[in-house]
Amino acid sequence: MAAERKGKVVLAYSGGLDTSVAIPWLHEQGYDVVTLTMHVGQQADNLEEIKAKAYAAGAVKAYVVDLREAFIDAFVWPSLKANAVYQGVYPLNSALSRPMIAQALIWCAEKEGAVAVAHGCTGKGQDQVRIEVACNALNPDVEVLAPVRDWGFSREEEMDYAAAHKVPVPTTRKSPYSIDDNLWGRSIECGILEDPWNKPPEDAYKLTVDPKDAPDEEVYVEVRFENGVPVAVDGKKMSSIELIDFMNKTAGRAGFGRIDMVEDRLVGFKSREVYECPAALSLINAHRKLETLTLAKDTLKTKKELEVRFAEMTYEGYWFSPLMEAVQAFMDSTQKNVNGTVRMKFYKGNCIVDGMKSDSSVYSKALATYSTGDIFDQSASVGFIKIWGMPIKTWRQTHKEKNINPIDTLVMQKGRDATK
Ligand code: ARG
Repeated sequence: MAAERKGKVVLAYSGGLDTSVAIPWLHEQGYDVVTLTMHVGQQADNLEEIKAKAYAAGAVKAYVVDLREAFIDAFVWPSLKANAVYQGVYPLNSALSRPMIAQALIWCAEKEGAVAVAHGCTGKGQDQVRIEVACNALNPDVEVLAPVRDWGFSREEEMDYAAAHKVPVPTTRKSPYSIDDNLWGRSIECGILEDPWNKPPEDAYKLTVDPKDAPDEEVYVEVRFENGVPVAVDGKKMSSIELIDFMNKTAGRAGFGRIDMVEDRLVGFKSREVYECPAALSLINAHRKLETLTLAKDTLKTKKELEVRFAEMTYEGYWFSPLMEAVQAFMDSTQKNVNGTVRMKFYKGNCIVDGMKSDSSVYSKALATYSTGDIFDQSASVGFIKIWGMPIKTWRQTHKEKNINPIDTLVMQKGRDATK
């Protein structure tokens, strides 16, 4: 029996089994399916093939869009400016792509006059939260459907359903992991990794070599930043896509960029996650170092606090929140001064910044030097120390009897003559 027709749905389509099965399934729910495949630098199959696959599974229209530059400009660079790493470790490569996917889905839905959008996330992850929160914020009139969360198929039932609806079932062995990747990094979960005691097998990694197998020679890379964003490598201007690709390869070959963490999910449980993000981690490292040269002390301090908020908002699906907008404006305002060149040394799993220079440097050699050319007025230190120490001195004068410092007792009890 044919269901009552409800209108169009725009499905975020990767070409994988889940979203392929979603095409006939959504059709059976009464929707005409428009697929939207987004190129964000993932190691995807041939995009033409994905398009053909969408039509074969019953799509009425199949879009394939290259969003790599949009992803970098509107999501990756803002995140680099904020040195964004969730829980101090994860550079948010997967999390960053979700608000863009949501934005593209809504864009396509409006263009197509669709009543709904759909994604292939399960009900257990946070990607469903990020995509749905973003879609609802951007256009609450468009319904968001999550077929994989709703259909309740077991793996076998899904395969049977696929076969019955002429959706090609993958012939290759299913990867033992759940992978999500784009140009900012690769996320690897599930399978053997679910036990935090198991060490990640080498086959989990694609972009990085084991540091022990990395070349014995150091590799030097000089990255030039303008307004907080990398623009050239070793003096050569590169497009943002080329530059990230170059850094992924160079750092990855040196065994740099692996992450193995237990992370706190938004949906309430801890999960063991493995990532490889050679470009993201090395660029963040370089950028953070350049900021120490170019930003004022109090700006750096406040920025650090807001970087944590930026990372949390990205992780937690609040990309389009008003606070995020304000925090991004703050970040942009600081980045006007983050210009210069950073020299990085890659060596067996390490990325070491060992030199930097900048026209907007606020490091003053004349103030810092202990050699000739010193302009620091050492006599001014006398007055500075007097006033800086005044509050503590006053307090201690008043509370003499309450000397809580145990050093006297410690010296009495444990002090030994060090010359004997
Ligand atoms: N845990 C990461 C995050 O929530 C990565 C999720 C990536 N998805 C995947 N299927 N591996 O941002």
